[in-house]
Amino acid sequence: MKTGNTKAIEEMFNSISSKYDFFNDIFSFGLHRFWKSRLLDILNPILGEKWIDICCGTGDMSILLARYMKSSENIIGIDSASQSLLVARERSKQKYSSIEWINGDALETNLTSRQFDGLLMAYGLRNLSSPYAGLREALRILKPGGRAGILDFRSFEGPSIQGLFQKIYLNFYVVPIASLFGFGKEYSYIKKSLLNFPSGEKQIHLALSAGFKKAKYQTLAMGQMGILLLEA
Ligand SMILES: C[S@@+](CC[C@H](N)C(=O)[O-])C[C@H]1O[C@@H](n2cnc3c(N)ncnc32)[C@H](O)[C@@H]1O
Repeated sequence: MKTGNTKAIEEMFNSISSKYDFFNDIFSFGLHRFWKSRLLDILNPILGEKWIDICCGTGDMSILLARYMKSSENIIGIDSASQSLLVARERSKQKYSSIEWINGDALETNLTSRQFDGLLMAYGLRNLSSPYAGLREALRILKPGGRAGILDFRSFEGPSIQGLFQKIYLNFYVVPIASLFGFGKEYSYIKKSLLNFPSGEKQIHLALSAGFKKAKYQTLAMGQMGILLLEA
């Protein structure tokens, strides 16, 4: 599958939705929840604030957010894959039933401007046909001064130990295991999606050119993951 094909990406995430959380746990050794929690610790969402989780998928980040704020009020999760949202609804219906799940496009949410205090995006930016347009839309719906945190894989330019580790991890761990379950093609997409994905200073530059007032980038998981911290 080519990168940037919004419909194909939606279909791909729909097709893996029932196994998505299982794979996330296996492929990150359960650490993805720790990285997501780290993002929340940095952003420190406060009870009463209104937050949105863009590219929420099966709802992991939104549910962690609700747990962090000790309330599921004023939380919206949005994703283009309807099957993933079904999983999210099922997972949240008992303890986090106030989370609102919206089936929509991160590039054109149709949500009112300047309404959110905070915005999260975990492993979403890399999948957008235009990360720049996604950042512009994120900025539009945030209140001035609102904060955003974007977590994703790091991409590496040129030879590096970390880049080599990522190649080995994707080629010899992620794709072979996903293939055992019939999802090799879907998970080989991660590598493709990283090819033109900016990291570090380039991500900062992209966010500032999209109009954010402040942008910072920090790494975690021994440099394999990156967090982009933004102020609208
Ligand atoms: C790798 S998953 C991440 C899911 C979740 N945030 C997590 O961390 O587990 C990427 C998600 O982005 C969604 N996505 C991709 N392009 C999108 C778009 N244009 N609008 C909304 N969601 C999109 C996919 O459907 C998928 O659920």
